[in-house]
Amino acid sequence: MEASEITEEVTENVSVKKKVFVAGATGSTGKRIVEQLLAKGFAVKAGVRDLDKARTTLLNDNPDLQIVKADVTEGSEKLAQVIGDDSEAVICATGFRPDWDLFAPWKVDNFGTVNLVEACRKLGVNSLHLPKCLGLTLVAKLQAEQYIRKSGINYTIVRPGGLRNEPPTGNVVMEPEDTLYEGSISRDQVAEVAVEALIHSESYYKVVEIVSRPDAPKRSYEDLFGSIKQR
Ligand SMILES: NC(=O)c1ccc[n+]([C@@H]2O[C@H](COP(=O)([O-])OP(=O)(O)OC[C@H]3O[C@@H](n4cnc5c(N)ncnc54)[C@H](OP(=O)(O)O)[C@@H]3O)[C@@H](O)[C@H]2O)c1
Repeated sequence: MEASEITEEVTENVSVKKKVFVAGATGSTGKRIVEQLLAKGFAVKAGVRDLDKARTTLLNDNPDLQIVKADVTEGSEKLAQVIGDDSEAVICATGFRPDWDLFAPWKVDNFGTVNLVEACRKLGVNSLHLPKCLGLTLVAKLQAEQYIRKSGINYTIVRPGGLRNEPPTGNVVMEPEDTLYEGSISRDQVAEVAVEALIHSESYYKVVEIVSRPDAPKRSYEDLFGSIKQR
């Protein structure tokens, strides 16, 4: 299928781009996801906590980019209003920022993600894509993962290895859950995997772990996602 067929629908000769809501759009991975979605022909609703930060972090002059205020801890009703019924998928790139609140990891990475799932259910958005955390917030995120998996909505959970800001130095290695215990990956590639997960149905209802390795063979995303079994 051509990329344009996936990202656009033609209604009465008017081409409408499919819109994706990105939570955590000003984050180091989130902003890359926004850039790649736009580059691949999607329209983007970027959910941010800080509009001023978004104006400097995101390329504001793109007519396919809409920036909206969205704090995932503020509850599913409010999130559903912000996501709106024009978004066809949601990508969650949030991660708690260390501050005085010791419960921030739980509030953002657990309850915040649950709020996003509930917002999707309310709206009938059928995709949620989640780069997951390793490290301090592992348990919180694992609980949120369980919630997504039982929610009935279509999801892809992406668990990256250590995140790097540098451009990719190797090809993506994708394995099933609880199999990749070391390695790192460029945030550019994590963003690519999150966007490709929207495009390829082989990713649906799957948990994937990713790193990159210089000696790994280059594989298509159909092949990578297709090699992971649903559980
Ligand atoms: N670092 C690693 O090696 C590693 C490895 C695997 C997975 N991960 C996980 O991968 C994800 C992306 O990582 P990253 O380094 O790109 O994260 P990041 O740069 O810290 O970005 C996190 C984003 O979440 C947003 N956020 C925080 N609290 C929020 C809230 N209450 N509501 C809405 N948005 C909120 C932040 O908003 P502001 O921009 O306003 O602060 C920021 O945009 C995170 O979940 C991280 O835990 C990280």
